[in-house]
Amino acid sequence: MATKWGICTVGKISNDFTVALKTLPSEEHQVVAVAARDLQRAQDFAKKHGIPRAYGSYEELANDPDVDVVYVGTIHPRHLPVSVMFMNAKKNVLCEKPFAMNAREVQKLIVSARENNVFLMEAVWSRFFPVSREISRLLAQEEVGEAKVVRVEFGIPLLHVTRAVKKELGGGALLDIGVYCLQFALMVFDGEKPQSIQASGVCLGTGVDEAMTITLTFSRNRMAVCICSICVQLPNEAVIVCTKGSIKLPSPMWCPTHLVVNGKEREYPLPEPSLPLNFTNSTGLRYEAEEVRQCLLKGLKESSRMSLADSLLLTEVMDEARRQVGVVYSQDSQ
Ligand SMILES: NC(=O)c1ccc[n+]([C@@H]2O[C@H](COP(=O)([O-])OP(=O)(O)OC[C@H]3O[C@@H](n4cnc5c(N)ncnc54)[C@H](OP(=O)(O)O)[C@@H]3O)[C@@H](O)[C@H]2O)c1
Repeated sequence: MATKWGICTVGKISNDFTVALKTLPSEEHQVVAVAARDLQRAQDFAKKHGIPRAYGSYEELANDPDVDVVYVGTIHPRHLPVSVMFMNAKKNVLCEKPFAMNAREVQKLIVSARENNVFLMEAVWSRFFPVSREISRLLAQEEVGEAKVVRVEFGIPLLHVTRAVKKELGGGALLDIGVYCLQFALMVFDGEKPQSIQASGVCLGTGVDEAMTITLTFSRNRMAVCICSICVQLPNEAVIVCTKGSIKLPSPMWCPTHLVVNGKEREYPLPEPSLPLNFTNSTGLRYEAEEVRQCLLKGLKESSRMSLADSLLLTEVMDEARRQVGVVYSQDSQ
């Protein structure tokens, strides 16, 4: 039986996620409905992607009995209220990153998932790429020894994107793209809580961070250095230096198709999209969609590869980094 998806919003990433679903077998993944704040835009999206039903409100999608799981592709400050609305309607939810604006909001998401007994996952798509799974395997089997130092950066010019710079829209480098660097470090160190977090950064006039550097230390003298920027293009690579070698992810490290282990490069190609994409390598969103399907088939309420505890820790680290740099959202005082 196919997993029946509902798509919430007709924005940029919702387009790419819908295209990515089409790279998977139609007997396994189907998009049955889409909702936007505006019916006409929902209808246009439905026509473009061949989706049977279009709604002009998210509530109508929540009430569609045919939908198994909703993909929430709204802007960060709306992740909590919109996801909770779907979960209260007993829908499973895959919500875009960052999961919410702060750890308190993430806790509310988790409580809602448990109260409603539904599946919930933060759409940290990077974690489900074959490259990422191979990294976890290499580290678990200590094929290159123990990971000691992680260096990872993500910087792209986004100052022209309104939602990336305006505080009320959840702007800032950390929440938008720094989250990928931190999730990578936490994945390498297997979800361990950092012993220390040291952040420094520079902010825009809007009060959000333009760039940040975060150094994390972990037990057994292991550490990670993460750099993010929404002003300039960085090399966007990641390297894991281990006791018996190194693992390198060339750019784009957040949606990787290449892996270099002790200097030997392997390629993991992505399928071609059937329609134009807004973002790099977006057909790779298929891997998180498949993870959701596998969890639902097994009756799981969360993924062990990106668990709710993983999302909470990730957000707690971001909260602390923001506290040190002085980036405060209205949600922090609610
Ligand atoms: N995984 C990835 O690779 C990836 C890439 C890009 C973005 N993202 C994440 O996906 C989310 C959306 O990003 P995007 O680039 O797709 O954004 P976007 O196209 O600018 O907006 C997405 C949708 O959010 C809703 N929205 C926009 N402004 C709003 C406002 N002021 N008030 C209420 N709703 C508003 C709209 O929904 P309607 O269509 O219903 O009007 C819009 O279509 C972000 O949280 C981002 O972090 C993930």
